[in-house]
Amino acid sequence: MKKLIALLLALVMVFAMCACGNTEPEKEPENEANNEPANTDEITTLVPGTLTVATSPDFAPYEFYALDEEGNAVLAGFEVALAQYIADYCGLELEIIPMDFDGTLAELQKGSVDLGMAGYSPKPEREEIMDFSDVFYTGGQSFVCLKGNEDKFKSLDDLNNADLSVGAQTGSIQVDLANEFSADADIVELVKVTDIIAEILDGKLDGGYIETAVAKTYAVNYPDLCVVLDVPYDAEGSVVGVNKGNEALLKAVNEAINKALSDGSMDQFVAEANELAAGDIYEGLLESEG
Ligand code: ARG
Repeated sequence: MKKLIALLLALVMVFAMCACGNTEPEKEPENEANNEPANTDEITTLVPGTLTVATSPDFAPYEFYALDEEGNAVLAGFEVALAQYIADYCGLELEIIPMDFDGTLAELQKGSVDLGMAGYSPKPEREEIMDFSDVFYTGGQSFVCLKGNEDKFKSLDDLNNADLSVGAQTGSIQVDLANEFSADADIVELVKVTDIIAEILDGKLDGGYIETAVAKTYAVNYPDLCVVLDVPYDAEGSVVGVNKGNEALLKAVNEAINKALSDGSMDQFVAEANELAAGDIYEGLLESEG
């Protein structure tokens, strides 16, 4: 009898073990875009292992030069932080190449950089030379002038006046805005946003078209600068420009952007950049290179 019970018990145990073995093994969690790093095997870059990014650091709080503790100018800004975040997500070393804004577009056109990160508005014509990422930041467009002249610019109609000299950055959508809203004015294209600001402060330009977040940031550092009007523009938001046709990189960039937006990193990058750009350490850099 005892033997029979032992046998039955053994059978029950074997049965139980089989039943366990039959259960599906726990599924690995899907490689969710929001959680896991990109599948780095698929990503190709111009220089293997390196993410080469062109930027134009005349554009606080997006990208600009801040001073570190030793007084050296270092690249900073929320787009620079996002570039590092994207590189980390892709498992790549980041190499940022600073240049003028129109240069960043030319490099993408030549296909000589992986990414352009220079506060690009997704202007449809640009899709001929780059692929657009998802929008990672939404700002707006403004007209700025010297404090004291606010009364001259009460409405958009006031911007179209043959007596005016208005500035816009070479290659930027602000040139389009100037052509649209200041067609009769003398439109002066300058390669750096900081040059436009310097010329407004010097009284050489009556005003200029500048991205709102940028205009407000420089107005903190240069209180004689006045952000007077909102200017409408269709292609809202900022995107990363990706080397055209590099689909795996575009996918990884979008995954990284959406992760940064959902995990709070982007908000943090913006807050840090605003703080740094408005701080004393940034004062005076308008005159320096970049
Ligand atoms: N958003 C505008 C454009 O795409 C201006 C960007 C200028 N960027 C800069 N880093 N200076 O044309």
